[in-house]
Amino acid sequence: MPVSFIVLAAGMGTRMNSDLPKVLHKVASAPLLHHALAAARSLEPARIVVVTGHGAAEVSASANAFDEACECVVQDPQLGTAHAVGMAAPLLDQMDGDAIVLYGDTPFIRPETIDAMLHARARHSVVVLGFQARDPGRYGRLIAEGENLQKIVEYKDASDEERAVTLCNSGVLCASAKLMFELISQVKNTNASGEYYLTDLPELARAQGLSAGVVICDESETLGVNTRAQLAEAEAAFQARARTEALENGVTLTAPETVFFALDTHVGRDAIIGPNVLFGPAVTIESGAEIKGFCHLEGCHISRGAQVGPFARLRPGAELAEDVHVGNFVEIKNSILDEGVKVGHLTYIGDADIGEFTNIGAGTVTCNYDGVMKHRTRIGKRAFIGSDTMLVAPVKVGDDALTASGSVITQDVPTEALAIGRAPQVNKAGLASKLMARLKAIKAAKGKA
Ligand code: UD1
Ligand code: MG
Repeated sequence: MPVSFIVLAAGMGTRMNSDLPKVLHKVASAPLLHHALAAARSLEPARIVVVTGHGAAEVSASANAFDEACECVVQDPQLGTAHAVGMAAPLLDQMDGDAIVLYGDTPFIRPETIDAMLHARARHSVVVLGFQARDPGRYGRLIAEGENLQKIVEYKDASDEERAVTLCNSGVLCASAKLMFELISQVKNTNASGEYYLTDLPELARAQGLSAGVVICDESETLGVNTRAQLAEAEAAFQARARTEALENGVTLTAPETVFFALDTHVGRDAIIGPNVLFGPAVTIESGAEIKGFCHLEGCHISRGAQVGPFARLRPGAELAEDVHVGNFVEIKNSILDEGVKVGHLTYIGDADIGEFTNIGAGTVTCNYDGVMKHRTRIGKRAFIGSDTMLVAPVKVGDDALTASGSVITQDVPTEALAIGRAPQVNKAGLASKLMARLKAIKAAKGKA
């Protein structure tokens, strides 16, 4: 049976105190919304509908950047969670199969938990995800016996007895798409908030003789972000989990608590990650690669046997083939380094292709930007780029070619040629001591004056 998701992301997030819509704030280098969408997508759904409102244009652009297949609807004004889900009715009310409601600001629901809810649907028409809250605060309370759910009571509408219940509503809810929208059309706003509550659905289902059930997950999965403090908590929770997973997957982390992963970081078995390494979006590290301390990596691919750092910066489009060595204070952007290339020290490589086993000397710069346009540098195989070479792109250096240290290379270098692009050296006999004597005399004369 197909599954559809409805991701609620219309809220303003007042307590973030921000111009940015709440669901676009980032955890693990990815907007909160992408975390919810990633969980949804891992169940291979037929449709994903995102309900936007505040910052609708930005939020839908972000949803589509994650996956073009996301469909976005705008909820304006925002009259409550049932009203929000109702916005998806024109797209989904004829869908076969189940619909699942997720919140865009609740990033940690596990796919396994959603799967457990889908299984519980065999026993119940409406399934709600609950959790035992350490501090139930203002969460909606689940009034249940075992896994049978009687109703959900919002905190504002709850009696003292109901407020004493610690089983709380996560907000995640599942029913057949057809039933979900039929029940939503019956929801009234006669409650303490004057809103249309999605939480009325279990009671409405029971009124039709249908059954409602609860699936319970750990509270950590339902962590919602409403404030900057909770955003920081969510980051810490994500990183703690990502570090544990990396260690379990056979990655060595010398100082796990100092390594920061992104939502989409992939690190292969037997990779070694040193202290203080930060992974931005879209990084893949193959098995057996080593990232030494203090590296900053984003949008790059590092192959088996490669060594990077310490103190290296790899930016989007950096592709390192097997056994490449990148050393300290090296920055690489939008460049392909073939097998065995060595870039040891103090170098900028941007918009370049470097052939296998080429050695790039310390202080080399690909001068890729003329102030208006970017240009490419192409270096062949087994070339040797002398220290402090400026490669003024567009420029090509052939296979087995050499550039002399300190050269400014403005013309292509043919295969096997040695290019010298620097002023010839002149030695003036005895001039050094004469010059020194003169400078000392000037200084002494000044001291007297
Ligand atoms: C909701 C639940 C509550 C549950 C809690 C869990 C209802 C009525 N209450 O309460 O039982 O314990 O979540 O966090 O559902 N949203 C829209 N449009 C709207 C209203 C909300 O898109 O018109 C979105 C918000 O952006 C947010 C989510 O829905 O992502 C939940 O809304 P929120 O106002 O936070 O509901 P709570 O009062 O926290
Ligand atoms: Mg909330």
